[in-house]
Amino acid sequence: MAEKEEQVVRNKQVILNKYVEGFPKEEDMLVTSSASIKLKVPDGYGGILVKNLYLSCDAYQRILMTHIPNSAAVFGFYNIGSPLFGYGVAQVLDSGHPEFKQGDLVWGVTTWEEYSLLPTPENLVKILHTDVPLSSYAGILGMPGLTAYAGFYKVCNPKKGEKVFISAASSAVGQLVGQFAKLSGCYVVGSTGSKEKVELLKGKLGFDDAFNYKEEQDLEATLKRYFPQGIDIYFDNVGGKTLEAVLLNMRQFGRIAICGMVSQYNLDEQEGVKNLMQLVSGRIRMEGFNVIDHLPKYSEYLEYVLPYIRQGKIVSVEDIAQGLDSAPSGLVGLFTGRNVGKQLIHLSEPH
Ligand SMILES: NC(=O)c1ccc[n+]([C@@H]2O[C@H](COP(=O)([O-])OP(=O)(O)OC[C@H]3O[C@@H](n4cnc5c(N)ncnc54)[C@H](OP(=O)(O)O)[C@@H]3O)[C@@H](O)[C@H]2O)c1
Repeated sequence: MAEKEEQVVRNKQVILNKYVEGFPKEEDMLVTSSASIKLKVPDGYGGILVKNLYLSCDAYQRILMTHIPNSAAVFGFYNIGSPLFGYGVAQVLDSGHPEFKQGDLVWGVTTWEEYSLLPTPENLVKILHTDVPLSSYAGILGMPGLTAYAGFYKVCNPKKGEKVFISAASSAVGQLVGQFAKLSGCYVVGSTGSKEKVELLKGKLGFDDAFNYKEEQDLEATLKRYFPQGIDIYFDNVGGKTLEAVLLNMRQFGRIAICGMVSQYNLDEQEGVKNLMQLVSGRIRMEGFNVIDHLPKYSEYLEYVLPYIRQGKIVSVEDIAQGLDSAPSGLVGLFTGRNVGKQLIHLSEPH
């Protein structure tokens, strides 16, 4: 035992190599094995030591790679030379915290490395249901799942029979919103960036219809074709021109949930949004939301979604790359739509 306590191992990490301008590139990150870590929490330390099992690639991470003057003082942005952080699934190896013990499985915010010493385990959720794949806790049972649930049910307030449009519909969040909308008796159309993904939406994910936005010249006309009577709910993952076209196709008293605007994350300056006057004439509610505010609803969400997963009534498509070396390309790929479903990096199996 004493030998294990003293064990020091190499700790492979993905660090920020360069601040990002425009589209992120793999070279903006560096996979390095220069760090080492002792596999024991220091005496008197209130945090936990974990082995990371799955890491989640998320579009918001691009925003954290931007150079902000005096960024060292800006909490929450990445710093050159430091590992990236983000959501993941991990196993506790050693604990200085009374609520966590060796062997516990957790999901929440961790760092992009093999082993992490996490000072604030309060930000982690213990995994209690292990009859579902562990990778789910970085997708449908983790942050993206709760985002889809809170955004659709709490912000959009859906009613049976309503017409729902979802952009980036095959993404981690989008694919779940579509399935929740179908379970609520809505008519659902999604936009996505390839023929393969259109087929996925209409087939495995059960959308009523779907189209490839890259093949459409006039989005306003496209949406009129799919929604001749207009859209009741728009779940916006992309912003930009799509949002402008949707605004011209909304029905009265429609709701627009602004979940994200991935089309804007690589621009030096965000585009303006035209057609906002439609909000007035159409009595439309457009509301942004952040999943962080909905964390207290996590157990309510689990109660809702677990039976559907177990019965096979909700599926989740994951795109799992192997090993930390594949993490930079996994993250960069989100911005060209290379991922099909939730992009994860698999590092290790639990003991
Ligand atoms: N509000 C919150 O709390 C919260 C939480 C989680 C995520 N989000 C946001 O929700 C959105 C979806 O996240 P996610 O995790 O589900 O996505 P994801 O799985 O990371 O997938 C991103 C997808 O966006 C599409 N995309 C990339 N660039 C695009 C562009 N310029 N125009 C249109 N589509 C583009 C690509 O698919 P295609 O092949 O279809 O182009 C890509 O696969 C993002 O905006 C994210 O930032 C918000």
